[in-house]
Amino acid sequence: MIQLIDVSKTFDSDNGKVDAVKNVSLNIEKSEVFGVIGYSGAGKSTLVRCINLLERPTEGKVIVDGVDLVPLNERSLRKHRQKIGMIFQQFNLLASRTVFENVAFPLRYKGIDKSEINKKVTSLLELVGISDKAKAYPAQLSGGQKQRVAIARSLANDPGILLCDEATSALDPQTTQSILRLLKDLNKKLGITIVIITHEMSVIKEICSRVAVMEDGRVVELNDVVSIFSKPQAQITKDFINTTSNLNRIGELIKENSSIVNLESGQKLCRLDFHGSNTKEPIISYISRTYNVNASIIFGNIEVISETVLGSLIVILSGNSEDQESVIQNLNDINIKVEVIKHA
Ligand SMILES: Nc1ncnc2c1ncn2[C@@H]1O[C@H](COP(=O)(O)OP(=O)(O)OP(=O)(O)O)[C@@H](O)[C@H]1O
Ligand SMILES: [Mg+2]
Repeated sequence: MIQLIDVSKTFDSDNGKVDAVKNVSLNIEKSEVFGVIGYSGAGKSTLVRCINLLERPTEGKVIVDGVDLVPLNERSLRKHRQKIGMIFQQFNLLASRTVFENVAFPLRYKGIDKSEINKKVTSLLELVGISDKAKAYPAQLSGGQKQRVAIARSLANDPGILLCDEATSALDPQTTQSILRLLKDLNKKLGITIVIITHEMSVIKEICSRVAVMEDGRVVELNDVVSIFSKPQAQITKDFINTTSNLNRIGELIKENSSIVNLESGQKLCRLDFHGSNTKEPIISYISRTYNVNASIIFGNIEVISETVLGSLIVILSGNSEDQESVIQNLNDINIKVEVIKHA
């Protein structure tokens, strides 16, 4: 559906050249929800704006639906662009027009007759759940409602692709959830391909099937979301994942010498990571039953991602050291990753 081949974008600025995107190649499949995550300045917006040529790549090919957009003239480009909707953090609504007119805007001047436009706008407003606000002005709407209007407008031309640049970053967590649910719904109902830029792993977790992690203009990691969470490779990916769980707290607790992590002689503080089918195993009782080792849980984190359960537990193992080694060996054998964080 979307194929970026060796795309680079360099800006000339007063302070010299900025390589915002460096040799990025990726394929986004039809009907998938694809995430792009990275810190500020990583090049996410520039990369995604290359998909509809709001930014013209300095190098590389941008193939959408089989057509390379880069060599097209303005007129054909405009036609192809209609098939790519876009929404933004700041909604970009026309303040002096009603909700209805904002959504109708892309349809005016296209030679579509009025009753047809009315029908289309009415159904779009219904689709995004905001029919009752048709006559309101943007200033009279909440952030979530404004984003719904922007989504309806972006769908006016029946695009096959929707680009979302930090579409939920200005919204509170509840409203973020409801907008993500709406996007997920549109993806299912319309089969629309969605590309989501975010700096929040929780957004990726909620809605994306695959994700590209960007750092300094490059894609440093790309994988399906379950793999990203269960076996992140790049340090930046690990850092992002840590933001969604409380497990990194353990490092702080150890540094602070907290009584929670005080070990008695012979004890080990361990982290267990498990996923998929082995989450159903009663791990803790298994450990104590099979070996003469007790495992007490300090804390844990369980994520459900695309219906796969990923869990992590911080535990203190007590028992004689040979038995503890057998436990660790045995857990590793059944694909539960064990990391000894601290010895007594
Ligand atoms: N029009 C421009 N002219 C000059 N430099 C630019 C321009 N647009 C972006 N840049 C630079 O390119 C780099 C990538 O910017 P970009 O906006 O793509 O990052 P981003 O990942 O979207 O960041 P954020 O999360 O803050 O939105 C930055 O160093 C930025 O300053
Ligand atoms: Mg950006």
